[in-house]
Amino acid sequence: MSSIPNLLSLRGSARGGRGGRHRGRGGTSSTSGPGHDATIQGTDTDAAVSRLSAVDVGFLNDPFAQFFVQGGPGAPVRRLPIINRGTYTRTTALDILIDSFIFGSDGLSSASSERQIISLGAGTDTRSLRLFSEAKAKGVTYHEIDFPVICTRKLNTVKATPLLMRALPSPSVGDKGSWQAKTDDGNQYWCHGIDLRELAHADLSAMDGLRTDIPTLLISECCLCYLETSEAKDVIKWFTDKIVDLGIIIYEPTDPDDSFGQVMISNLGSRGIVMPTLASYRNPSQQEARLKEAGFESVRKLTVKDIWTTWIPEEEKERVNSLEGLDEVEEWDLLASHYIIAWGWRGQGFKAWDRR
Ligand SMILES: C[S@@+](CC[C@H](N)C(=O)[O-])C[C@H]1O[C@@H](n2cnc3c(N)ncnc32)[C@H](O)[C@@H]1O
Repeated sequence: MSSIPNLLSLRGSARGGRGGRHRGRGGTSSTSGPGHDATIQGTDTDAAVSRLSAVDVGFLNDPFAQFFVQGGPGAPVRRLPIINRGTYTRTTALDILIDSFIFGSDGLSSASSERQIISLGAGTDTRSLRLFSEAKAKGVTYHEIDFPVICTRKLNTVKATPLLMRALPSPSVGDKGSWQAKTDDGNQYWCHGIDLRELAHADLSAMDGLRTDIPTLLISECCLCYLETSEAKDVIKWFTDKIVDLGIIIYEPTDPDDSFGQVMISNLGSRGIVMPTLASYRNPSQQEARLKEAGFESVRKLTVKDIWTTWIPEEEKERVNSLEGLDEVEEWDLLASHYIIAWGWRGQGFKAWDRR
């Protein structure tokens, strides 16, 4: 079992290879201190490389991913097939939920009413770029929050890359260290260099451009799991206290108690990474209870394995399989059942989610 991979720590070999296992670097088990913060910031590099690998293999269509990986376009990256499938499945699941929030359940209605997205620990995520470059997104306010160093790096990458500048034109830096860009379609992008553990104790003015009067979706794609459970709760509460029409999507590992889960924790631990919320919300039902307790009236949850099985249409599964098949389906089943997407909502802005 010691060779069991996990979606965050496993690295494949250079482009085209099947790859060796990542070996741990060792480190602290605490969730505070500059060393720990740097380690956690490094997880964004993993996410960016995994995204580009899934693009390279043809699973995802994302012209922006290449610019956020060191070495730039053409950088050699290739994750193992189960990792590519995991990245594809969770990205697609979030896209489905986000698109139905913005465009309605039929995916056709142009967003006549305004919508807001707040991505916690967004890192070098490219979703805002993809969304803003689609002609149909209008009146969307998209906030990303991450450590200042990550936000500044993202600004520098955007400024240095004409394709990114087209999606986020004329970025300007505000006095609180956030930067923003506005599109001709009335979309607004904000990137806030804020430690989420501090945001929980700040007032509303900490987030330039935050609207509290429009339907808003909070996203934590593998971010809140790095905070202490009480800190993660405080972050969610900061938003639930201010915004009535609110939804949330959380993607993180689950089920630490079986032997696969134990290896997953040990893999992360060897890299100096702890995930306190994994200890607090140990299974999908506890994730569901977490969101109910936070004040979301409707809550759903699915593992990545369930999403692959039930949300990805058969012809799309065939396309993905034809690009890169799996040698070991059991290995995929095990891995994908240890990652969960939980989502919850309250208010009129999330009617499309009632049908999911
Ligand atoms: C695994 S990466 C995920 C990045 C992105 N959400 C994605 O899925 O591609 C985790 C991100 O959370 C950010 N993060 C973790 N703790 C944070 C905190 N206390 N404040 C701000 N950002 C944080 C990290 O810097 C990192 O960019």
